Amino acid sequence: MHSAAAEPPLPLLPFGHVAHERLGMPYPAPPGSLSPSAPPAGGVPEQVAYTRDASIYDSRTSTFDTYRRQLVDLLPLRPGDVVLDVGCGTGLCFEQVRDRIGAEGAIVGVDASREMLEVAAARVAARGWRNVLLVQSAVEQAELPAVDHVLFCATHDVLQSDAALDNVLAHVRDGGTVAATGGKWAPPWAIALNAGILALHAPYVRNFTGFDRPWNRLESRLERLRVREVAMGGGYLASGTVPSRIVPLGAGPLDRESDDAGPRQARR
Ligand SMILES: C[S@@+](CC[C@H](N)C(=O)[O-])C[C@H]1O[C@@H](n2cnc3c(N)ncnc32)[C@H](O)[C@@H]1O
Repeated sequence: MHSAAAEPPLPLLPFGHVAHERLGMPYPAPPGSLSPSAPPAGGVPEQVAYTRDASIYDSRTSTFDTYRRQLVDLLPLRPGDVVLDVGCGTGLCFEQVRDRIGAEGAIVGVDASREMLEVAAARVAARGWRNVLLVQSAVEQAELPAVDHVLFCATHDVLQSDAALDNVLAHVRDGGTVAATGGKWAPPWAIALNAGILALHAPYVRNFTGFDRPWNRLESRLERLRVREVAMGGGYLASGTVPSRIVPLGAGPLDRESDDAGPRQARR
């Protein structure tokens, strides 16, 4: 199992107090520390690709960069936005997001793997970014701030977890965009292609259940979900928006008295 649970917070790097204050999160660690959200990484089985091989992850997966770029392009980012990168790993999507949201925005990267986050922390420090918050935790239990948009890049196992999706989406503002990309099975007749897909993704995927339609659980949670298959059906790009949780007063039994009160609204 992952050894990080017993270890203290990393005595390093980046989250700037700018992001810390802006996100209003109750982090006990001083600015400059990686922040574990309790319990750290609970329940996420170790995978060598994210522990022993974290330092070579970037070079091993660089061919996937084109989809990382297309993924970030699916988000309608504006300066000042707060973006959650779920299963951020070594932070390979950070640069493009940071280019769009500027120094006044913020990136929250959450990942269970201490080793992957150490690489991400070094990336953030090397660029001098002060607006990146790294959270070491299983997504299912992570303490997260409110965010504008979310991306899932190559996080198949997370996309199959109802608990992870419920936690993430509860922190996205109404109308915020959720974008996801990753591998998937090509059509069943493409046997050789699927053999290659299996070999390519096996180090990174714990369970291939749902690999024919990895966006399945997003479909019921998002509005206007659009899916585009890429790489001859061996990958996909998907995006949709978080439905409004605003309900008009008067919609429920408690609100009968307010029938004449005009268009007041309340959070569900
Ligand atoms: C294939 S890597 C993708 C990394 C990065 N998004 C990218 O574009 O390269 C998947 C990442 O998801 C993380 N992960 C998988 N399941 C997780 C979970 N339940 N909670 C938190 N992180 C998880 C792994 O530790 C790993 O860093």
